[in-house]
Amino acid sequence: MKNDAFSDFAVNTAEHSRLLKTAQYIQHGNTSCLLHSIAVAYFCYRLSVKFNFLKLHRRELVRGALLHDYFLYDWHIPDKSRPLHGRYHPKAAYRNAAEDFALTPIEKDIIKKHMFPLTLTPPACRESVLVCIVDKICSVYETFKKNAYKSSPIYTVFNKIRSSKK
Ligand SMILES: [Fe+2]
Ligand SMILES: [Fe+2]
Repeated sequence: MKNDAFSDFAVNTAEHSRLLKTAQYIQHGNTSCLLHSIAVAYFCYRLSVKFNFLKLHRRELVRGALLHDYFLYDWHIPDKSRPLHGRYHPKAAYRNAAEDFALTPIEKDIIKKHMFPLTLTPPACRESVLVCIVDKICSVYETFKKNAYKSSPIYTVFNKIRSSKK
């Protein structure tokens, strides 16, 4: 994946999935689940370029990050079938992602383990560790920052996805 290919890759992933649906759900603060997922994927992507010597599997890292919160429901609405959203949603995200894509072992691990240590099994690959850390930083940032990522490349990708598939 080249430096400017992140956007195309994200748009393509959205075109072949229900990712656009996640724009209607709030994740943290006033940040939607879609914007949050793009942000996590974008920072993971940038870090994988910066630390190129780590030879991370970049496409899998980005796709896993884009799909890590692909649970497709509003977690603010109480539902007895998912009493602990924090522990439940990685499984739901994995189920949905596996319906839409032939996931690789790295992508599966990223999605299933991103809530570690809340979900008890630790990440099995470096890509998952990165998503796990970046996700937590983004979550805290979004909780306290209104209109997070406005005027950033993340928001540009967000708008592209929203206008690419009606
Ligand atoms: Fe999550
Ligand atoms: Fe997340």
